[in-house]
Amino acid sequence: TGSQLWGGRFATGPADALAALSRSTQFDWRLAPYDVRGSMAHARVLHRAGLLTDDELERMLAALEQLAADVESGAFGPDEADEDVHSALERGLIERAGPELGGKLRAGRSRNDQVATLFRMWLRDAAVRVGNGVLDVVDALIAQAEAHPGAVMPGRTHLQHAQPVLLAHHLAAHAHALLRDVDRLADWDRRAAVSPYGSGALAGSSLGLDPEAVAAELGFTSSVANSIDGTAARDFAAEAAFVLAMIAVDLSRVSEEVIIWATAEFGYVTLDDAYSTGSSIMPQKKNPDVAELARGKAGRLIGNLTGLLSTLKGLPLAYNRDLQEDKEPLFDSVEQLELLLPAVAGMIATLTFHTDRLAELAPAGFTLATDVAEWLVRQGVPFRVAHEAAGGCVRAAEARGVGLDELTDEELAAVHPALTPKVREVLTVEGSIASRDARGGTAGDRVAQQLAELRATAAAA
Ligand code: ARG
Repeated sequence: TGSQLWGGRFATGPADALAALSRSTQFDWRLAPYDVRGSMAHARVLHRAGLLTDDELERMLAALEQLAADVESGAFGPDEADEDVHSALERGLIERAGPELGGKLRAGRSRNDQVATLFRMWLRDAAVRVGNGVLDVVDALIAQAEAHPGAVMPGRTHLQHAQPVLLAHHLAAHAHALLRDVDRLADWDRRAAVSPYGSGALAGSSLGLDPEAVAAELGFTSSVANSIDGTAARDFAAEAAFVLAMIAVDLSRVSEEVIIWATAEFGYVTLDDAYSTGSSIMPQKKNPDVAELARGKAGRLIGNLTGLLSTLKGLPLAYNRDLQEDKEPLFDSVEQLELLLPAVAGMIATLTFHTDRLAELAPAGFTLATDVAEWLVRQGVPFRVAHEAAGGCVRAAEARGVGLDELTDEELAAVHPALTPKVREVLTVEGSIASRDARGGTAGDRVAQQLAELRATAAAA
C-alpha cells in the first residue's frame, strides 16, 4: 500500500484483519499539526547535519507548510490505507515534495520517538485548556462566596450536622481543591516538557542530529537524557491521566453536594433553568443532570487512568506496540473535561442559594454544643469534663424538645455549676462562627482574607 512505512523484507502485504487492527488514524489524526511541526524541526537539523542542501531544506519546508495548511483546511486527511498519522503525513509530504525529496525526511527518526514527542506536545496544550476551564469553575465558586459574605449554614461531618460555618468558607473549600489541581497541571508540565525527538527507535541517532535544537524549536525545555527512556516511558501520560481524573473527582464532589442541596429535604439551592433538565413523564421535575454527569464522568476518567496503568505495568523496555493504547484514554479524559468544565462552571455561577433556609438549619442538631464545651474550657474547666457537661446540655435540651439556648439558668446550673447564664453569649450561630478566628477558620474576617488570597492565587495560575 502507498503510505506504508515498511515492507522491504516482506513478500506479502498485511492481512486486512491486521491492517484494521493496526490502524490508529481514527484517533491519532489530532496529532497531525504537531507531527508537521516536528517534521519542520527535524528538517532543519538534517540540514545542519549536512543531509539536506539549502535548496532541499527550502523546498522541504515549503512542502511542509503546504501540508500543514491542507491538514488545517481539511484538504488533506488520512485514507483507508494509512496505518497511522505518521504514515499518512509522509504520503502527504511525498505528494507535495515528490518521492525523491519527500523520502529524505524519515532519516534519523522513528515513529517511536515521533509519537512520544507529539503526544507530549498535544497533552501540554490540552493541559493549558483544561487548566483554564478549571479556573472558570474556581471563579464561579469564589463569585458565589463573595456574593454571600454573611450567609451561615450547618457544616457537616458524616453528613450529620456538626458546627455552623459560613457558606463562603464551604464554597472556598472546593475552590482550594480545584486550584491545587491547576497547580498539579503546572507541576506535571515541568516533567512533561522534555522532548524524546532524536531518540530514534530506541538507541538514538547516528546521523549527527541535534535533539536539543529540535526540543527548543518545539517548545520543550530540553531533550531526553536517555533514548530508551524517551521512547518507552509513559509516566507523563499516566500522571496526566491522574491529574485529569483528580479534577473530575473534585468536580464530582462539588456536584454531589449540589445534587443533595437541590432536594426538597435540603432546600439549600435552586438550579437555574438553563442548567437543569426536565422529565419526559413527570411535568414537575427539575433535574440536576449537569451535576450527575459530572459524577458519572468521574468514574469514566478514573477508568482511563487505571486502564492506562494496566497497559503499562508489564511492558519491558523499550517501545512495544501496546503503547499505541496510551492515547485514547487521555484524548477521552481531556474531551470529557472540555465538555464538563463549562457546564459545571455555569451551573455553579447560576445557583440560587436560599440563605434563610441555610440560616434556619445552621443551629439545628445542637451544632453549638462544641461552643459550650470550649466556653467552659475558657472558664478553666478541663476539656474532658467540659465535653461531658456540653453533652449533658444536649441531653437536657433534647428531652424537652428545645434548643441549647432555651435551657433555663437552673437547667444549666444543674448540668454543671460553671454553666452560668453568660454561656448564652456563645449560643448563637454568629457568635460561634466569629469565634473561630485563627488562620483557616470560618470567622468572617478570616474568610474574607481567604477569598482575597484565593483570587490572587487563581489570577497567578
Ligand atoms: N502508532 C504507534 C503508536 O501510537 C506508533 C508507531 C510505532 N510503530 C512501530 N511499529 N514501532 O504508538
